[in-house]
Amino acid sequence: MKAWLCENLDGIGAMQFQDLPTPEPGAGEVRVAVRAASLNFPDLLIVEGKYQFKPALPFVPGAEYAGVVDAVGAGVTHLKVGQPVAAIAGTGGFATHACVDAQRVLPLPPAFDLEDAAAFAFTYGTSHHALMDRAALKAGETVLVLGAAGGVGTAAVQIAKAAGARVIAAASTDEKCALLTRMGADATLNYSSQDVRATLKALTDGKGPDVVYDPVGGELAEPVFRSIAWRGRYLVVGFAMGGIPALPWNLALLKGASVVGVFWGDFVKREPQASAAALQQLAHWYAQGKIKPVIDQRLPMDQLPAAYARMGSRQVQGKLLLVNG
Ligand SMILES: NC(=O)c1ccc[n+]([C@@H]2O[C@H](COP(=O)([O-])OP(=O)(O)OC[C@H]3O[C@@H](n4cnc5c(N)ncnc54)[C@H](OP(=O)(O)O)[C@@H]3O)[C@@H](O)[C@H]2O)c1
Repeated sequence: MKAWLCENLDGIGAMQFQDLPTPEPGAGEVRVAVRAASLNFPDLLIVEGKYQFKPALPFVPGAEYAGVVDAVGAGVTHLKVGQPVAAIAGTGGFATHACVDAQRVLPLPPAFDLEDAAAFAFTYGTSHHALMDRAALKAGETVLVLGAAGGVGTAAVQIAKAAGARVIAAASTDEKCALLTRMGADATLNYSSQDVRATLKALTDGKGPDVVYDPVGGELAEPVFRSIAWRGRYLVVGFAMGGIPALPWNLALLKGASVVGVFWGDFVKREPQASAAALQQLAHWYAQGKIKPVIDQRLPMDQLPAAYARMGSRQVQGKLLLVNG
């Protein structure tokens, strides 16, 4: 097999796509022949030791991938060789083959495209948990999605629309805003060039968005929180901009508003039944054509450094795929 091996925490520049012995699955594991893996922001952080999950060195990064089961370890009865699957494994995907705990493998329904499957559960799972569960989004409410052209952002826009909400999609360039309009956003906001508070006021008749989905953090958070509606819910999803915002608590009091944390990885571990039900609803929406990953580019697996550079410089629109074969 070939794999991108992370042997130290010096980042992607220190890694090579190298030949390694093809591993045999242990008890409770399967081996997946990886067709495609998608890049998620945590993949950038994990190779520099900056992510909350710190695997022992050496490891192969690549949290999310899809392919076909090509070997089954002892004790695994619900998966068989030849079965198309997706895996949310935390690591292992930036390779041609990966051995993974069978519990972290999702058998795919018929007609679920393998490349879509490699770009699905992480982002849609996160955004569904955030909007539908943590914010209890209702049809007719207005959702503001920040970083809306990114991975979790595009998923949030589609899920909010599928749930009957009005969506204001916000991003840093006009090109990203144009994509978001084509995706069906009701309005867009370019936060690099427009006055955030004045634009939100104008777009909501002075009321403000009911729900804010924030995977970006940094300096945007305070002006946006100042604009939130009465009884608003501000979803803390991530800090792609780097800075962790601090808010004056009186703002929450004045709006009767909530700051709501979102941690999809722990939700999956702590509430497996609720997570499975959410993924089932998402698979149903996918089958109905209501949601579908927006694919930015498909790069060959050996081009991983170019993929990292593209995400690190805010160029990705939707999801970036690394494909084998
Ligand atoms: N809480 C959870 O359970 C959970 C789950 C998954 C992901 N996350 C977090 O969500 C965030 C987004 O993940 P993602 O996979 O969707 O990433 P992504 O596709 O790269 O999207 C991130 C977006 O953030 C914006 N951004 C602002 N400053 C940036 C910077 N300096 N570098 C890169 N992007 C920047 C970009 O949009 P503009 O250029 O338009 O500003 C970009 O589209 C990450 O912080 C990730 O850790 C959290």
